Amino acid sequence: MEVKKLINLSELSREELMDIIKLSGVIRDNSAYYMDDCHGKIMATLFYEPSTRTQMSFQTAMLRLGGKIIGFDNPQNSSVSKGESLKDTIRVMSGYADIIVIRHPLEGAAYAASLYSKCPVINAGDGGHLHPTQTLTDVVTLWYERHHLSNQTIGCCGDMKNGRTVHSLIRCLSSYKGNRFVFISTPELQMPDYITEELTEKGVEFSFSNSLEESIPELDMLYMTRIQRERFPSQEEYERQKGVFVLDEAKLSLAKDDLVVMHPLPRVDEIAVEVDDDPRAKYFEQAEYGIYARMSLIIKMIKGSSKKELPEVPESTHDFKCGNPRCITQTEQYLPSLFDERGDELVCRYCEHTFVQH
Ligand code: CP
Repeated sequence: MEVKKLINLSELSREELMDIIKLSGVIRDNSAYYMDDCHGKIMATLFYEPSTRTQMSFQTAMLRLGGKIIGFDNPQNSSVSKGESLKDTIRVMSGYADIIVIRHPLEGAAYAASLYSKCPVINAGDGGHLHPTQTLTDVVTLWYERHHLSNQTIGCCGDMKNGRTVHSLIRCLSSYKGNRFVFISTPELQMPDYITEELTEKGVEFSFSNSLEESIPELDMLYMTRIQRERFPSQEEYERQKGVFVLDEAKLSLAKDDLVVMHPLPRVDEIAVEVDDDPRAKYFEQAEYGIYARMSLIIKMIKGSSKKELPEVPESTHDFKCGNPRCITQTEQYLPSLFDERGDELVCRYCEHTFVQH
């Protein structure tokens, strides 16, 4: 298995994904066996945005595999603060490390990084776009809890608009038979069109809800998300949205006995602390499973990677930039303009925002 980058979990085939899920279970039960698997290898964790779980679970995973880590968790302490471009940082770091893990506030940053890296790049979250290794963690958790990934009614609650974890999760689980989705949010934080259009194209059933109480009885899995202060243009808009959906014991009492409650964490107030002791609450286990999922991914990517060389950067497909203000191409001006045609629409290859061609 040669995976040069993991920007979007759908870059993995179903077989590759299942291999990683199953290996993570083996690692969980026999972790000592893997303690030297990455001996002599270095991982660079480049976090342009804060993180607890993703950063430290990647670092723990690499250390448990016998590898070493370098990187920064605050770009202000690196030469990014002097104006260094993403391209230059990546080019240099990919000479130092054997694998790069990057989190960035702008959408498409991990894909942009992969264009200039000599070693494999993993997207650890790019703005409100995607978070594939969180999804890997989520499906590993669902697999451990349910032993299958199909025929589930999956509720996603909170910020559907900016929630990169839900975007990645829906994409992944929508390719398994019989799954249907209920999106529980305010109208302002509704799922982006590019996700719902994809579901429609795949023939996947989904519905919208504005009531957690009304929707919870039908769910097999509930994925709660945080209203992310950092994604709102103003404090007033954030204040209007926060605290609308809170999972507490009263609402959980309406749910199935075998509901699986997940949350990528961190939580603020969207799950009451009283829920933590309910056996249906799996979010702390989920965070721990993230280590095994990432150990499994690192093994597959490092062992499968051939010699280090710079990739060929594609030429611009069009002579204009993506109009999404949160796209990485807005700030990193040297990036080629890359769009794919989908019917009448152009899809930005970095952030996946769509535009109608005139
Ligand atoms: N789930 C997740 O991405 O958490 P962190 O922001 O703490 O990495």
